[in-house]
Amino acid sequence: MTKIDNPFVVASYHSPAYFCDRSEETKTVSGALINGRNLTLLSARRIGKTGLVKNVFYHLQKKKGWRTLYMDVMPTTNLSDFIKLLGTTIVEQEWRQSKNYMKKIAILLSGISAKLSFDPVTGAPEIGVEYKTRQETEKSLSALFSYLSAQEARYAVAFDEFQQITCYPEKNIEALLRSHVQHLSNVNFIFSGSNKHMLTSMFSDYGRPFYQSSDFLFLEKIKVTAYAKFIREKFAERGKAIANDLVTEALAYYRVHTFYVQHFFNRLFENSEKKVTKELVEHVHRLILKEREDIYYSYRNLLTTYQFQLLKAIAREGGVSRPSASDFIARHGLKQNSSVRRALSALVDREMVYEEKGVFYVYDVFFSKWLEKCL
Ligand SMILES: Nc1ncnc2c1ncn2[C@@H]1O[C@H](COP(=O)(O)OP(=O)(O)OP(=O)(O)O)[C@@H](O)[C@H]1O
Ligand SMILES: [Mg+2]
Repeated sequence: MTKIDNPFVVASYHSPAYFCDRSEETKTVSGALINGRNLTLLSARRIGKTGLVKNVFYHLQKKKGWRTLYMDVMPTTNLSDFIKLLGTTIVEQEWRQSKNYMKKIAILLSGISAKLSFDPVTGAPEIGVEYKTRQETEKSLSALFSYLSAQEARYAVAFDEFQQITCYPEKNIEALLRSHVQHLSNVNFIFSGSNKHMLTSMFSDYGRPFYQSSDFLFLEKIKVTAYAKFIREKFAERGKAIANDLVTEALAYYRVHTFYVQHFFNRLFENSEKKVTKELVEHVHRLILKEREDIYYSYRNLLTTYQFQLLKAIAREGGVSRPSASDFIARHGLKQNSSVRRALSALVDREMVYEEKGVFYVYDVFFSKWLEKCL
């Protein structure tokens, strides 16, 4: 595996060496798949769902007879897009892994009436589909799942941001997908997403097609001790030293929220020499906020003055459990509590605030830090 310049990955998954812990969760997800169960993976945004799925797949791919297909469903807007995504993902994998891939791809493409093309830049295969009737579309979806069930391999298929299917304009998509999913003995699924309410109700509401069709895993934050150890090791491996106190303080400062922690330590690593000092830590905190300042000022224009004032109040308290309480309202000059409730609900809908275990937080941790200081 190639060694990367900065050990704090901020984009996609790289490899286990740059992935902190999650050993229990990796075991839970792989265990479900290997034992023939589907799993729904949920968490707040940017905690590490996609990373966990990729880590599970990294290991599963090495097991004899296993194949993995990862798809981000978020950009799809209808059933044809879904078919195109699943079809392209299967084609890509056959192209990379099968000896007789041309024959296999030809069978698959004819089954779903799709055209094959190649990306002029990357050379990766891509398929194009155009269906005129619902019947034609459903037939192609069946053909894709039949193709998978006819393979000798065991498949693990991840549909990331799966709640997106509820936004498709076609009717009864959940029932249609469920009817295919339940009949495949060699394929198991991970359904993941950050829209907790939508996904939970899809899989746990009596009467919904996916009711009780999968295990659940609510992904929590990485444990502080494991994360601190990982961070210090990554610095040490590159000949840099950082005191444990500085690491644990920064973890707490960014609420152990994976995305923000990774970003901070990526920048800290970039700016550090042999030994990390407290001054450097503070400089990097400021640097990150400075770079985002223009965006944060523009957020202000998207919100009402009252909503912005409430956001600032939540940020300054570092989270609030009783936003309608009179002392909170008085402390921040927020007027009556009916306005708080309305503004809070608008902020939750816009995903600027989220609730975790009864406490409301500003979702974007960097933005929260900026709000704490803003006038
Ligand atoms: N265990 C981990 N160790 C190190 N970095 C991680 C770990 N898990 C996730 N990351 C990194 O944290 C960031 C956020 O993770 P990821 O994209 O997996 O979260 P997510 O929950 O899928 O987010 P979203 O809700 O936006 O889809 C990414 O940069 C990823 O590389
Ligand atoms: Mg994700």
